Amino acid sequence: MNNPYLPIYAKIEKVTQETTSDTQDVKTYKLRLEEPLSYAPGQFLEVGIPGKGEAPFGFASTPLKKDTLDLTIKRTGSLTNVIHTLREGDGLWLRGPFGNTFPLDKFEGYDLFYAAGGLGLAPLRPMIDTIFHPDYRSKYGKINMLLAARTTKDFIFQYDYEKWAAMPDTTLYRTIDNKEEGWDGLVGFPHTLIPEIPFDKEKTIAVLCGPPVMIKALSDAFAAQGVPLDHIYTTLEMRMSCGVGKCGRCNIGKRYVCVDGPVFSMEELSTMPNEY
Ligand SMILES: Cc1cc2nc3c(=O)[nH]c(=O)nc-3n(C[C@H](O)[C@H](O)[C@H](O)COP(=O)(O)OP(=O)(O)OC[C@H]3O[C@@H](n4cnc5c(N)ncnc54)[C@H](O)[C@@H]3O)c2cc1C
Ligand code: FES
Repeated sequence: MNNPYLPIYAKIEKVTQETTSDTQDVKTYKLRLEEPLSYAPGQFLEVGIPGKGEAPFGFASTPLKKDTLDLTIKRTGSLTNVIHTLREGDGLWLRGPFGNTFPLDKFEGYDLFYAAGGLGLAPLRPMIDTIFHPDYRSKYGKINMLLAARTTKDFIFQYDYEKWAAMPDTTLYRTIDNKEEGWDGLVGFPHTLIPEIPFDKEKTIAVLCGPPVMIKALSDAFAAQGVPLDHIYTTLEMRMSCGVGKCGRCNIGKRYVCVDGPVFSMEELSTMPNEY
């Protein structure tokens, strides 16, 4: 096994500005790898710049492509401020992949309902793109996608929506918090819309990602519709350091989010302390 503390270098090939609002600055970095990297939907990397720091970021691209990968990064503090100054040709140091994965084999035969808020769409993209691939699509039923953002300027991956909406047996909904001129999508917090969206409660796996308050409200909304907790999944963003279950930074009770997660079913989370 490779040394999990030894980073590999990857060059930035493309930088895409995702959001254009004044309150949120999110960019996607396409990285070119010197050696192929295998990973699975749900996993994450520790991303560092020597002398500046290191932090965890979920993969935001299809794992079926192994020579490049995308990271979608919000500017929030010391490391991400520096990352946001980087351009094409600059580099980042990567450790990983770490963590567990969305259990795509367990999801086979089910309909899927992705509900993502803002940047929460990023860690779902590896699963979304894998399941839309022709080799995988027939293993799953209908797909609903509910993409939420504070404003129209806060949606990420807008360039993917037309392609996703055109996929077979797929319905894509978008919602923003408040009405805006020219907006023809939904309005309101995503959990309030669940009762209005038709889906097969007995056949659906719901996959949620976004701020903790949104995940809890959405999980309650799906549960109120009769979706069992072991059919509702999410991925957590605890503070982390080592990424490999050694430093104790990311624990919830006895579980380490970096190795036992970051993907959990709501049934698992219901047995853990409410610290996420
Ligand atoms: C598994 C995992 C996957 C992640 N994926 C992504 C991703 O795809 N894109 C992305 O932009 N971010 C992601 N994050 C969050 C990212 O790791 C943090 O935003 C990052 O550590 C910020 O580093 P910084 O040095 O810029 O900020 P800091 O200077 O460390 O902090 C800036 C501010 O953000 C707060 N903060 C930082 N990290 C967290 C956190 N995890 N939870 C709550 N508050 C926090 C701090 O308290 C502070 O107020 C992920 C986290 C985890 C654990
Ligand atoms: S980040 Fe060190 S134990 Fe999880």
